[in-house]
Amino acid sequence: MNYEKLMLRAISNANFYKFTAKPNPVVGAILVKGEEIISEGYHEKFGQNHAEINAINLAKKKINKNFNDFSELVLICTLEPCSHIGKTGSCAHAIVDSGIKKVIIGSIDPNPLVSGKGVEILEDAGIKVEKNLCAELVRKQNKYFFFKQTFNRPYLTVKIASSSDGKSHYKDSERTYITSDASRNDVQILRAEHDGILTGGNTLRNDNPHMNARVDFDTNQPQKILLSNQDINEDEYKFFKNNSADIHSNLSLDEVIEFYKNSDLCSILIEAGPDLVNAFLKTGKVDEIVIYTSNKVLGDEGVDWFKEKNAIENYGFKLESSYKIGGDVKETFIKNEKK
Ligand SMILES: NC(=O)c1ccc[n+]([C@@H]2O[C@H](COP(=O)([O-])OP(=O)(O)OC[C@H]3O[C@@H](n4cnc5c(N)ncnc54)[C@H](OP(=O)(O)O)[C@@H]3O)[C@@H](O)[C@H]2O)c1
Repeated sequence: MNYEKLMLRAISNANFYKFTAKPNPVVGAILVKGEEIISEGYHEKFGQNHAEINAINLAKKKINKNFNDFSELVLICTLEPCSHIGKTGSCAHAIVDSGIKKVIIGSIDPNPLVSGKGVEILEDAGIKVEKNLCAELVRKQNKYFFFKQTFNRPYLTVKIASSSDGKSHYKDSERTYITSDASRNDVQILRAEHDGILTGGNTLRNDNPHMNARVDFDTNQPQKILLSNQDINEDEYKFFKNNSADIHSNLSLDEVIEFYKNSDLCSILIEAGPDLVNAFLKTGKVDEIVIYTSNKVLGDEGVDWFKEKNAIENYGFKLESSYKIGGDVKETFIKNEKK
């Protein structure tokens, strides 16, 4: 049996739920009898059944039709089955109880507190376990989840819209739209991909943004986060409509990041102006910068994103990708760890 082909299928189909499973990882599970796929399960929605449970439940409907006993089946799952009794019970115990005798795992759970424990439960019950089939792909598709489990804080992405002369907005003016509709639509997807979205009091007062993900597919909306040391009348701002928001005052940025260590959030998109963005960059904890640059020029009335040339490279980032979007250029920079 070509288990790699099945693993790739599980990885690829799991991705379909990336916006509704978050901040949980996407996970796929396939049960096979020889060459025949008996059932497939996915972690479709945060707080709902894990992939393995969905696959087992579906297979139960086919018992005595396509197969007689779970011991005839092999389970292929993209991530190590969980050992803990969380919101939905332990998947490792459910696999043992089902009678499955062989399990192929994509990646081991990156959380040091539970890593390997699921495998231990399976092996202790006499189940044959094979690990690390396409592990790198599973890690990549769950980049934010793996980062949070490994580094014990959310992944931080900064989004910047810039004029061609490196400006953020006009001094003393209301909201400035710099980039094209195509770029602004792309930002909506970027928001949907993240678990949290953070801004500052000035942006709130000047722009009165909604800052939700306006996309035409189902998504768990990012948790809104506002940093402000001033009194805010929530009724005045769109930011507080429909979704709850966390407001932090009198905390250093390191303390704000620390606050989310113990939350569900695995990633936060920072959509703020030059002051707050540069302050975050100075913490050294920003992991990625996405810049949309238009060919508009704001000139002397515009406010610079950065005081010095090559600021992004000097902050330790290197260009990961660059392409045209609408009339703009989208560039993604990631932390150059070797610097
Ligand atoms: N081009 C773009 O992509 C883009 C994106 C977003 C915003 N902007 C523009 O940027 C302008 C504002 O830029 P900005 O950097 O001055 O404002 P900002 O994004 O609101 O960030 C600065 C504000 O954050 C709050 N803050 C900073 N550190 C804090 C901390 N440790 N604890 C609590 N609050 C903290 C303060 O709010 P309080 O003053 O309320 O205390 C501070 O005034 C806006 O006019 C907007 O149009 C441009």
